[in-house]
Amino acid sequence: MSERYFTYRGRKMDIYSREGCEILARLWTRSGWQNRFSYNIKWLGMPVIQLPEDLLVLQELIHAVRPDWIIETGTAHGGSAVFYASILELLGRGQVLSVDVAIRGYNRRAIESHRLGRRIRLIESSSVLPSTIKVVQRHLRRNDRVMVMLDSNHTRAHVLRELGLYSKLVTPGSYLVVFDGVMEWVADAPQGKPAWRKDNPTAAIRAFLKRHPNFEVDTHYDRLGVTYCPGGFLKKKLI
Ligand SMILES: C[S@@+](CC[C@H](N)C(=O)[O-])C[C@H]1O[C@@H](n2cnc3c(N)ncnc32)[C@H](O)[C@@H]1O
Repeated sequence: MSERYFTYRGRKMDIYSREGCEILARLWTRSGWQNRFSYNIKWLGMPVIQLPEDLLVLQELIHAVRPDWIIETGTAHGGSAVFYASILELLGRGQVLSVDVAIRGYNRRAIESHRLGRRIRLIESSSVLPSTIKVVQRHLRRNDRVMVMLDSNHTRAHVLRELGLYSKLVTPGSYLVVFDGVMEWVADAPQGKPAWRKDNPTAAIRAFLKRHPNFEVDTHYDRLGVTYCPGGFLKKKLI
């Protein structure tokens, strides 16, 4: 039996063709999401709720930009903050500011006692409060290179508010990464929700880009196809 061809939406597809590969990547992402693959990954001992493919390209991005600050919304168990800190440690520069509306005591202790904890500052507050933005801004100095990762509440309205607030902090040439645009892809999954067809981070990105021509989607960083951030790598243009 040949394992070269499969049928997709009534069409015969070749797994070795570019289009076949892209379709398989999307199907794999959706299947893995339903099976909670990203909840079974640790980085240096810390649970990180990301796909290995996304972590790999985030490493590329951090290496390319070499930021002084990575501002993250959505700390959870701290795995992503420690991941960013570990790349910054290897680069010999930069710190992480991680914002979460609720940081559990055991997560805070694990992050702060981690050997990379000295590169991480935690802010416990809602990401969209003006007071939170003020605290974040207090850490940044005039010529600091800033990158932002949005991975907190994933509704369209919340992400759009975050995009409006945090895009101002991103330095030209640097990036703002929006996570979980995959929600649009998995709205029909058994664990998905039909409302996600419209209420998702990708919808927020589309609305944001209409009013912010100084940002553009960089498709280099979601090129692997297996990603939770489709169309989510936004570059702030050099003016
Ligand atoms: C998907 S998890 C973050 C995953 C983490 N970045 C990682 O990769 O391991 C989302 C987090 O966002 C936080 N969150 C939800 N609403 C928020 C808000 N309004 N402001 C800040 N954080 C929020 C939740 O408490 C939760 O810890």
